[in-house]
Amino acid sequence: MEARSSFGAMSELELTPERMREMGYQAVDRLVERIAGLEDLPAWQGTTREAMRRRLAGADPERPTAFGALLDELFDSVLPYGTSTDHPRFLAFIPSCPTWPGILGDLIAAGSGIYPGTWIGSSGYAALELEVLGWFKEWLGYPEDSAGLLMSGGSMATLAALVTARATRLGAEPWSGVIYASSEAHSSVVRAARILGFPDDRIRILEADRGFRLSPSALAEAVAADRERGLRPFFAAAAAGSTSTGAVDPLDELADVCEREGVWLHVDAAYGGFAVLTEPGRALLRGLDRADSITLDPHKWLFQPFEAGCLMVRRGRELVSAFRVSGTYLQDTELSDAGAPDDAEVNFGDRGPQLTRSARALKIWLSIRHFGLGRFRAEIEKGLALAERAAERIEASEALELVTGPLLGVVCFRSGGGEAEDAARVRRLLDSGIGMVSSTRVGGEYVMRLCIMNHRTRWEDVERVIEELERPAGPGTITVAGAS
Ligand SMILES: Cc1ncc(COP(=O)(O)O)c(C=O)c1O
Repeated sequence: MEARSSFGAMSELELTPERMREMGYQAVDRLVERIAGLEDLPAWQGTTREAMRRRLAGADPERPTAFGALLDELFDSVLPYGTSTDHPRFLAFIPSCPTWPGILGDLIAAGSGIYPGTWIGSSGYAALELEVLGWFKEWLGYPEDSAGLLMSGGSMATLAALVTARATRLGAEPWSGVIYASSEAHSSVVRAARILGFPDDRIRILEADRGFRLSPSALAEAVAADRERGLRPFFAAAAAGSTSTGAVDPLDELADVCEREGVWLHVDAAYGGFAVLTEPGRALLRGLDRADSITLDPHKWLFQPFEAGCLMVRRGRELVSAFRVSGTYLQDTELSDAGAPDDAEVNFGDRGPQLTRSARALKIWLSIRHFGLGRFRAEIEKGLALAERAAERIEASEALELVTGPLLGVVCFRSGGGEAEDAARVRRLLDSGIGMVSSTRVGGEYVMRLCIMNHRTRWEDVERVIEELERPAGPGTITVAGAS
């Protein structure tokens, strides 16, 4: 078949600098318009699969389409459907509200032709990622010889922590290993164990205590019982900010048990970890620095765009020896890196499951350097303070009762009218587009839950959402935000 373009001609996929600028400005304009108008947009806009199929029908990938028309299609007919996690009244699940420099960081990362898997592919960038990881070490109180890497999110970080612990503690005989977590642990812990092939009977889910925390004595008892059965307890996952209630497990006491028993202590601080930047957060997270590994999610309470997760490992060499596998086709990337985490050229592909990866440190570096850490600290403090005020407001409410919190930005509450009534209130708020909260179960009971960690959220936003949830759900009160 004859080639369509002749050799030597300009690539058919190349654009002139003028055209690139023009398209960039168009895309940036649409993004800025959306963010500036968020207040007036619904926090959630529902749709059906069929309606989306209709909206997207007729697209012919063989035919070129004007960039402006495609932006219209995306911004008008595709992207508005679903949640806006950066909306000031999106208080559901774990919100993510990226800063503008962080958003631009992702654009620069994609447009800079760097290859963040190896040192030769991205020496400048790799040094930047080391710099960012160095900040995290300092914030966490981790030692100099700790090491980490940026990953897609908390789930992958916990998976990589389990790989590292398995390689370090179980070596060639992994199948007698036992993993421990509390009933409040995030599902990513069990998923990581399953991915790695641990059968369900090697995963102990220990009933959380009355404060929804992993009990050190329950852990010690379970470890002893498994030892008696001839098994090898090796990994305990604690939470520093559980997803349902924000509870922080007793990290110091758990570290004592784990040290005594030779069990790897992993702390899932995916959303709560960055509270160490604040004084109250540091007090709550006491003992975090004793963990063998830590999951952090900068795309949660460090205000970064998805994806930005992070694994930190206390003894960095253990991370490298768990993941490092060489290939002849990579021989040109072997400079002086001897696997030392800090004093040699680092191939980030040696620290995790991905070789080719995106340059996630860029957005973190750019946003923190631009604003200065103080502004991030202030916004985390604001989240903590807003949650406290929300809890007081709920306690004072005649229509609502506080169930848990405030704990690291999370407040759980109910109306007293039962699950169906509260679920209807949550749904009505969702359908109204005014805001969004999610629900969970505390001690088996349905509760409504506020998660306040969006820097765009002000007290009036929280109050408006609480006021909506105070009103009994009744027929005729639902106004649907464009659910078609
Ligand atoms: C405590 C905790 N751990 C882990 C995760 C999973 O993180 P990711 O969604 O980034 O994989 C979450 C997500 O909300 C979480 O809250």
